[in-house]
Amino acid sequence: MQTPATIDEVQARLGEQGYVCGRALATVVFLSLRLGRPLFLEGEAGVGKTEIAKALASMLGRRLIRLQCYEGLDASSAVYEWNFPAQMIAIRTAEAQGGADRGALQQELFGPDFLVERPLLQAMRPDENGAPVLLIDEIDRTDEPFEAFLLEALSDFQVTIPELGTIKAPEPPVVILTSNRTREVHDALKRRCLYHWVDYPDFAREVEILHAREPALADRLSHEIVAFVQGLRTEDIFKKPGVAETIDWAKCLLALDVVDLSPEVISDTLGAILKYQDDIAKIQGSGAAKLLREAQAGLEPG
Ligand SMILES: Nc1ncnc2c1ncn2[C@@H]1O[C@H](COP(=O)(O)OP(=O)(O)OP(=O)(O)O)[C@@H](O)[C@H]1O
Ligand SMILES: [Mg+2]
Repeated sequence: MQTPATIDEVQARLGEQGYVCGRALATVVFLSLRLGRPLFLEGEAGVGKTEIAKALASMLGRRLIRLQCYEGLDASSAVYEWNFPAQMIAIRTAEAQGGADRGALQQELFGPDFLVERPLLQAMRPDENGAPVLLIDEIDRTDEPFEAFLLEALSDFQVTIPELGTIKAPEPPVVILTSNRTREVHDALKRRCLYHWVDYPDFAREVEILHAREPALADRLSHEIVAFVQGLRTEDIFKKPGVAETIDWAKCLLALDVVDLSPEVISDTLGAILKYQDDIAKIQGSGAAKLLREAQAGLEPG
């Protein structure tokens, strides 16, 4: 499938995938595709950072390869490993068959049959549909040595396996990195990328997202939900609800056949949008009633 020729086309085609994309984000996505630069997305939890990589991959008809980062992630889990148990079995079998050719066995053991390819190596393999989309998710969870290693891998898109030689991507993958900013990612890595801060959407866009994800939702209720959640984000709470929570809450309300928000319904379903007991305790009761009044007042026509 063709890469988009304009920013408008990026917006439209992501929209077809159910991803509502503002102009600024569409612009960096366009540039990242055009210039072949990795895209670094930072933002609060649940604002659609991971989702855009999925939407982009299906929009381009490319394979999505995901490297989920975590503390202690090392090169062997990210690039390749040797299949140790299978190697042991091969050695035992060779022994049982009596004195196989040691050189040949050695070659076989460290050949493609025993290589376990991890995401970074997979992303460098050619694909008939075009270079894959490589999502390096939550990079802020890894440690600095791994970051330095990634910097290398992203600069030349090749890896060297001592026993096999160097493998180079015929066409560099489309790379998306995300971070929740639990720590600052190193400048050197950021400099390589195009950067975009994914903010909470404004009212109109969040309503649009809700419509894209939950078409069954009535207009009135979706406006109330969004106005309430947006109000909630201005409160002094520990963990503000993301778009993911807005969608979850809408699902809950649909399942309960709610037509209109009321303080009682909100109290009963607050767990869909707030995930910390302190936050729930703070908002439950009069706080929720006040937020609902404000939300509904903002929606009155005129
Ligand atoms: N712009 C959008 N258009 C459509 N759906 C969206 C959009 N933004 C968020 N969503 C929805 O919100 C959910 C959460 O998004 P996603 O998992 O991408 O968030 P995230 O930013 O990666 O969060 P986290 O930091 O917690 O991983 C997705 O399932 C998606 O359906
Ligand atoms: Mg994510």
